[in-house]
Amino acid sequence: MTTTRTVVRGGLVITAADEMHADVLIEGGRIAALAAHDSDAAAGWSADTVIDATNKYVIPGGVDGHTHMEMPFGGTTASDTFETGTRAAAWGGTTTIVDFAIQSVGGSLRSGLDTWHAKADAQCAIDYGFHMIVSDVTDNTLKEMDVLVEEGVTSFKMFMAYPGVFYSDDGKILRAMQRAAANGGLTMMHAENGIAIDVLVQQALAAGRTDPRYHGEVRHALLEAEATHRAIQLARVAGAPLYIVHVSAQQAVAELTAARDLGLNVFGETCPQYLFLSTDNLAEPGFEGAKYVCSTPLRPREHQAALWQGLRTNDLQVVSTDHCPFCFAGQKDMGVGDFSKIPNGMPGVENRMDLLHQGVVDGQISRRRWIEIACATPARMFGLYPRKGTIAPGADADVVIYDPHAEQVMSAETHHMNVDYSAYEGRRTTGRVETVLSRGVPVIDNRTYVGRAGHGQYTPRGICQYLI
Ligand code: URP
Ligand code: ZN
Ligand code: ZN
Repeated sequence: MTTTRTVVRGGLVITAADEMHADVLIEGGRIAALAAHDSDAAAGWSADTVIDATNKYVIPGGVDGHTHMEMPFGGTTASDTFETGTRAAAWGGTTTIVDFAIQSVGGSLRSGLDTWHAKADAQCAIDYGFHMIVSDVTDNTLKEMDVLVEEGVTSFKMFMAYPGVFYSDDGKILRAMQRAAANGGLTMMHAENGIAIDVLVQQALAAGRTDPRYHGEVRHALLEAEATHRAIQLARVAGAPLYIVHVSAQQAVAELTAARDLGLNVFGETCPQYLFLSTDNLAEPGFEGAKYVCSTPLRPREHQAALWQGLRTNDLQVVSTDHCPFCFAGQKDMGVGDFSKIPNGMPGVENRMDLLHQGVVDGQISRRRWIEIACATPARMFGLYPRKGTIAPGADADVVIYDPHAEQVMSAETHHMNVDYSAYEGRRTTGRVETVLSRGVPVIDNRTYVGRAGHGQYTPRGICQYLI
């Protein structure tokens, strides 16, 4: 069998650690070597394929650690399948997702995981792994957690929100955290005080406040901060690391900062929607605000500065999408006249790398920090590094050729996600994905999709590599 050799010539290679004017040799699906342009070493490389990256960035494929493809939720199902969602991810420069398998109440972790494997198997354009949503902590569930960690499902999401759906009380959360402390698992927390929020939901509806914007008002920032604080204390008691998902409130960032200043293994993720959108969107006229209903909710604009600051200071370490798309027609409109019936979630898996690059263009973060929060740290956090998240000898050749000067206008007309609106409709951004390789195989070639369902492989993960 001959091994395919590809050389990427002339680009600026950017990793979390370095920027190098280097050519990249890819062999057998892995990065074989890097060498300075015009060096004797690079000149000596023969190749089956040469990709010209002159004036382009050569970056690791994005690692999106938080997606929900075809997730049943809110009385409907997220509109991207593993096939359509991973294809859209590739268009946006993401080459690995970690999606959430769900334990149903009364069911086992195993059967939930099997169900999600069946959904994803032979469907994905890019590599994927799974976290496990734990919605029913029992003696058996706790034992199963140990087995899953051994198998490569090394993180467990729990919910302080959504009573009657995924909610766990503090006792259940503590028990699961204690187990994770012992088996090396990472607890991921949806930190909102769902019991208090449900009271405010009922009060708002009874008072006739039914529009989408009230979704943001009842899910008060202080109830995110309170739950974040409580989750941190529970994790301290259990001696377990903790990762707070989809942080949107500046008060929650403050809780993370305080915990990290104590040297605790507490980490935070935010999402592009919280960096670029706000309650102004939730208040758009008519029912348009429903497009932006997600939890935690969008916040007033002033929270955005705190989130960018947290990304700069490493009080927030990861930007994932929480991609959970529902079409406006036929799904979001289930909540006309009652915001609590709008399915919670937003599309974005295709937009993350570009929006964060816009953060670079706007001077919010450096180029290396862009790669760190979107590629390297999620890979480390979820036990995929250095196979994923970097460009270095031995790593999977998940490589994106990125044109930092191309202009684009985000739109549902041109995106590839299976959803009938864009949360960023009409937004102009600078920078665009040109070519994407997954393990050395072209998925996007000069802005043409050349991938296939089934190329993407299930990727078991190691334990969190980001602990202090
Ligand atoms: O609104 C959201 N975030 N939907 C997806 C489920 C979750 O809580 O992550
Ligand atoms: Zn959540
Ligand atoms: Zn989510």
